[in-house]
Amino acid sequence: MLSWDEFNKEETPGAKPVTPQRAQEKPASPVETAVAAVEAMKKPAPQAAPARTAAPASNIDAEAEKNNTSALAQAIDELQELDVSAGLEELEGTAARVAVDDKRMINCRADLNQLVPFKYDWAWQKYLDGCANHWMPQEINMNADIALWKTEGGLTEDERLIVKRNLGFFSTADSLVANNLVLAIYRLITNPECRQYILRQAFEEAIHTHAYQYCIESLGMDEGEIFNMYHEVPSVAKKASWGLKYTQSLSDPNFSTGTPETDQELLKNLIAFYCCLEGIFFYCGFTQILSMGRRNKMTGTSEQFQYILRDESMHLNFGIDMINQIKLENPHLWNDKMKEEATQMILQATQLEIEYARDTMPRGVLGMNAAMMEEYLQFIANRRLVQIGLPEQFKGVSNPFPWMSEIMDLRKEKNFFETRVIEYQTGGALSWD
Ligand SMILES: [Fe+2]
Ligand SMILES: [Fe+2]
Repeated sequence: MLSWDEFNKEETPGAKPVTPQRAQEKPASPVETAVAAVEAMKKPAPQAAPARTAAPASNIDAEAEKNNTSALAQAIDELQELDVSAGLEELEGTAARVAVDDKRMINCRADLNQLVPFKYDWAWQKYLDGCANHWMPQEINMNADIALWKTEGGLTEDERLIVKRNLGFFSTADSLVANNLVLAIYRLITNPECRQYILRQAFEEAIHTHAYQYCIESLGMDEGEIFNMYHEVPSVAKKASWGLKYTQSLSDPNFSTGTPETDQELLKNLIAFYCCLEGIFFYCGFTQILSMGRRNKMTGTSEQFQYILRDESMHLNFGIDMINQIKLENPHLWNDKMKEEATQMILQATQLEIEYARDTMPRGVLGMNAAMMEEYLQFIANRRLVQIGLPEQFKGVSNPFPWMSEIMDLRKEKNFFETRVIEYQTGGALSWD
């Protein structure tokens, strides 16, 4: 194994001894070195030139060297004209060192390239946790799934429908989420530790899309049918287009926050994507596929979904933390109209997911049916509402699938605000059990 000791040993024999005087000299900067090199090249080389032009091949070398010299001279001339301070001033914020109190979730004027000091430790911790949970789809063995999928009668028609619909929905949904992150919200969230997590999340969304593609390819499915489902199957299309409309205005390069209306538009986008898309639209499909795995069917696909669900529960908690932090820093945005709109969004998303449950489960299958899923989704909707500080809308519903919360291991992945709420709340009303 290569070590620095060996590296130093290899260097030592050929190296000239360093004199004490030389060692004290300040090393030349790369620009100084380059300038010196060009200056040296500009001087005529009286003895070397005639000898080198003697051979025809050397003519070509000399011409190439002349071109290289003039290109390098031009590069160095331009570097010398570079006004360093002017360049940095064009970056967001000022040249000052950033203090914690300068940092804000949105509309922040402090330098966004200074990651530390951290203000939002929860964001940095999620970035670290996301990295610690790294996984790749090819690590999961799909052999049992391939055999079962290709065996006639291995799965019922209803079970096959569930696998196809979910791969169809999710293969598009994760791509919509990734696009929203990169094209809409990244530039509008003005905090470097949150941006660091958003970049991690964007990569995880790419891994999820990769996982669906890996399942589709392994099972030999009709790729056109699966990837086009969001155009062709109404219950899938409605969910996709509902999410997309919240990306549209924000992905316009001319959109910017800074007024109550535009700040609220960003807040609605975060609620649409984190609370509704990742927090409600994923839950029928996750429950169906994980239920299949619990019955020893499509265990590879189910394991892929289990890894994805672990990532998604962190995405959701990160989004909820961002929403609550923006509310805390900008209380004027969270007015009655906004609360009403946020409640409506969660109710609409729940309704679309209930329609999806009915479409994917025309009959009872895998120990569940559409009515049970409806109650589960209402239970989830109540939870999303409470997580962003809104009252529950479905009275008396309970969780018909407690095993889902065990798989998610939510006790370990509480979001920052929720943990605080639970600390002060008696009766454990927010518990999953
Ligand atoms: Fe995802
Ligand atoms: Fe996600």
